[in-house]
Amino acid sequence: MMMKIDKKMSEAAWAILAENDRGGYTVPTAHLYPFQWNWDSAFVAIGFATYDIDRAYRELERLAEGQWDDGMIPHIIFHAPSDTYFPGPEVWGTRHRIPTSGITQPPVFGMALRQVHEAASAAGRPDAVERTRKLFQNALRSHRWWLRARDPEGTGLVSILHPWESGSDNSPAWDEALKRVPTSTKTTIRRKDTGHVDAAMRPRDEDYQRFIHLVDVYRECEWDPARQWEAAPFKIADVQMTGILARSTADLLILAQSLSSPEERGELERMHQVLTEGLARRWRQDLSRFVSRDLVSHRDVEAPTQACFIPLVALTLDDQQRRAIRSEIKRWLDGMVVGVPSTAPFSPAFEPKRYWRGPVWAVVNWLISDGLRMNGSEDLAREIEQGTVQAIERAGFCEYFDPTTGEGLGGGTFSWTAAAYLVLSQRS
Ligand code: GLC
Repeated sequence: MMMKIDKKMSEAAWAILAENDRGGYTVPTAHLYPFQWNWDSAFVAIGFATYDIDRAYRELERLAEGQWDDGMIPHIIFHAPSDTYFPGPEVWGTRHRIPTSGITQPPVFGMALRQVHEAASAAGRPDAVERTRKLFQNALRSHRWWLRARDPEGTGLVSILHPWESGSDNSPAWDEALKRVPTSTKTTIRRKDTGHVDAAMRPRDEDYQRFIHLVDVYRECEWDPARQWEAAPFKIADVQMTGILARSTADLLILAQSLSSPEERGELERMHQVLTEGLARRWRQDLSRFVSRDLVSHRDVEAPTQACFIPLVALTLDDQQRRAIRSEIKRWLDGMVVGVPSTAPFSPAFEPKRYWRGPVWAVVNWLISDGLRMNGSEDLAREIEQGTVQAIERAGFCEYFDPTTGEGLGGGTFSWTAAAYLVLSQRS
């Protein structure tokens, strides 16, 4: 049965995306995040593909403008100045044509490109092949960068060197590793975020000092990937990042069948194999979830966070794993008004209002439900999708939601929440 599509809500979602448009790219929300963010834009492109294909392509094309010569697609593209965000371009000190940050974010780009291409082809757009081909090359170069720069030893898992790269900035998954990062900074910290939203919902000052310490270290490496790899005091082979990269690789492979050469297809197949094998090794039966690995302490990251479920988008699990992960997700949903919490409610680190330490994020639910559908759990996927849609209908297009009350928190008119609504409300 189709979910009932609320026309007024879809129109409100379109209005948010129009309001946050800054000329072919969408800011996550005005003031708090006034530039183009990497994975936000990829999700937004998928949202646009439900009603405006040209705009969907533009979103990805504008993101690709920020791609570095070495292939990295940065986490922020500073297309136009704004003084409502810290750290701005002067802190990053990178040297790309357009000012950008110096780190990256989850490569949802490949997943988005496939969906935009399929929507464009279904609509019979004459420019589909040409536009997709160009963006396919951007994606391929970025995947090469990932494997070269972030898995130099060929383990099949890519690493993050900064919590911001994960997209889950202050997740308890980083607590132990971050403790080793000094709080001293060369850059003067001028937080702007707490002027826009309640400080109790944001990362703490101490987290920010460590975040900026890491930026200082990598800027001193002149953003050279090999030097950063050596100098990194924070290095985590991340299952969320690897899961998304592996899935994007699979999506690029599908596009490659009609759009690229046999050599590139072979290259993508090899990448896909390496990544899925690496990821599969991170399953912990005793925990019923996947775990990241801290490459500095050589320990598993056992904190129960949403990242543990993201490999579902890339892997075909066996029956035992499916049963285990399903009941683990249900355990996390138990007693919640809306799920899936970004940190397990039974964890001592759980804080239902603080950013990535408990709140529910619509795009995370989008990924988890995709992965559940791929792994034969349509019913649970539907429950999560419907819960997300209803949470948005009740509380608005908020940045995230308190799982214990359903309250909408953080920024109020969020682009990727609007995109998630457009996509998830159409699911049956
Ligand atoms: C925060 C989130 C990150 C997101 C960004 C813009 O930094 O943690 O995932 O991309 O805001 O919305």
